[in-house]
Amino acid sequence: MNTLNWGLIGGGKGSQIGDAHRIGSAMDNCFHLAAGALDIDPKKGKQYAKSLGVADDRAYGSWQDMLSGERDREDGIQLVTVATPNSTHYEISAAFLKAGIHVLCEKPLTMTVKEAVKLQELAAKHNCLLAVNFGYTGYPMVRQARAMVQGGKLGNIRLISAQFAHGHHSDAADMDNPRVRWRYDPKQAGVSSVLADCGIHALQMATYIADQTVSNLSAHFLSAVEGRELEDDAALQINLSGGTTCRLWTSAIALGHMHGLSFEVFGERGGLRWHQEQPNQLFYTPLNKPTQILERGGKGLHKDAVAASRIAIGHPEGMMPAFANIYKDLHAAMLGSEDAVARLPMSDAGVEMVKVVQAAAKSAKASGKWVTL
Ligand SMILES: NC(=O)c1ccc[n+]([C@@H]2O[C@H](COP(=O)([O-])OP(=O)(O)OC[C@H]3O[C@@H](n4cnc5c(N)ncnc54)[C@H](O)[C@@H]3O)[C@@H](O)[C@H]2O)c1
Repeated sequence: MNTLNWGLIGGGKGSQIGDAHRIGSAMDNCFHLAAGALDIDPKKGKQYAKSLGVADDRAYGSWQDMLSGERDREDGIQLVTVATPNSTHYEISAAFLKAGIHVLCEKPLTMTVKEAVKLQELAAKHNCLLAVNFGYTGYPMVRQARAMVQGGKLGNIRLISAQFAHGHHSDAADMDNPRVRWRYDPKQAGVSSVLADCGIHALQMATYIADQTVSNLSAHFLSAVEGRELEDDAALQINLSGGTTCRLWTSAIALGHMHGLSFEVFGERGGLRWHQEQPNQLFYTPLNKPTQILERGGKGLHKDAVAASRIAIGHPEGMMPAFANIYKDLHAAMLGSEDAVARLPMSDAGVEMVKVVQAAAKSAKASGKWVTL
């Protein structure tokens, strides 16, 4: 294995998503954590990086120091992951792309369409890969669903219903919780809360499976908890480029829902159903035939699902191996594989989802008026 040097920005101790990146990137030996600027607090960031085995001189106090320290090293990082809060994604990703370093940026790619497009241009100009971590596309049975839909197994796709509805921001008493408050503050979160945070994962997955883009949409936002400026629930009706209708429900007030990410695909000749909380089973119902449960690791699956799967059938395989599949494909893409690029959520998806967020906020303000992307 040609293990490549990797750097992480954000993902400090106790962060929500840092561990999934560290474990995912290392799972197949594709990347080695060579450098890190892991925390907004320089001292904590350096300490944590060193505790993870990063060399003293590559445990940085800030991303700016990391950029100047790494860009001229012969063994400098080849890929950086940006796992900081949303409002910093643009500045950090732009700086590393300009230095010719490949970027995996957390979602949402940026806060504005202009910034997202600019990042895409920078990636092209500097001959870099720019991927966006819609990490749930790394699940084997999501890739199976994609292969079945794109292989024509379900015929023409009439409707996709996508959901990312959880209930973790239901308590009005959480208004003062710092981890919740910023998400509903337009200065820090932008024009959308739960759609930008969660809903775009489900919608991106729908477009990934259908191989279609968003044409236009109508959105309705609800701010259910009193005092919230941004939405904590949203429903979108969407027309996709290939003629499929998509309905998206995303929520942070759906009490009783845990993670709540799922999709259902309804074609002329069959239907598919997948829920991220039972990721190893894909329910397939051919027209006029009984429902089949396709098991991860089982026989007869598409090669993309087989390649994305690691352990024997029946053993739970979840989110970190799904992230590992993103890193495995990034590694292959960095070594020139076009197939890997086709499997990855690249900057196109990142730009599109930033456009969706902006269009939905505009539509919701106009009581659901249709907005073209
Ligand atoms: N793809 C996914 O499934 C997924 C899941 C959760 C979060 N996310 C995204 O990941 C990003 C981070 O979210 P989180 O929930 O881990 O946030 P978090 O608040 O839990 O952690 C953020 C981390 O970044 C560090 N940080 C902040 N500013 C920094 C800076 N300028 N330089 C270096 N480090 C800095 C903080 O100290 C902290 O360690 C967000 O963009 C979020 O949308 C993605």
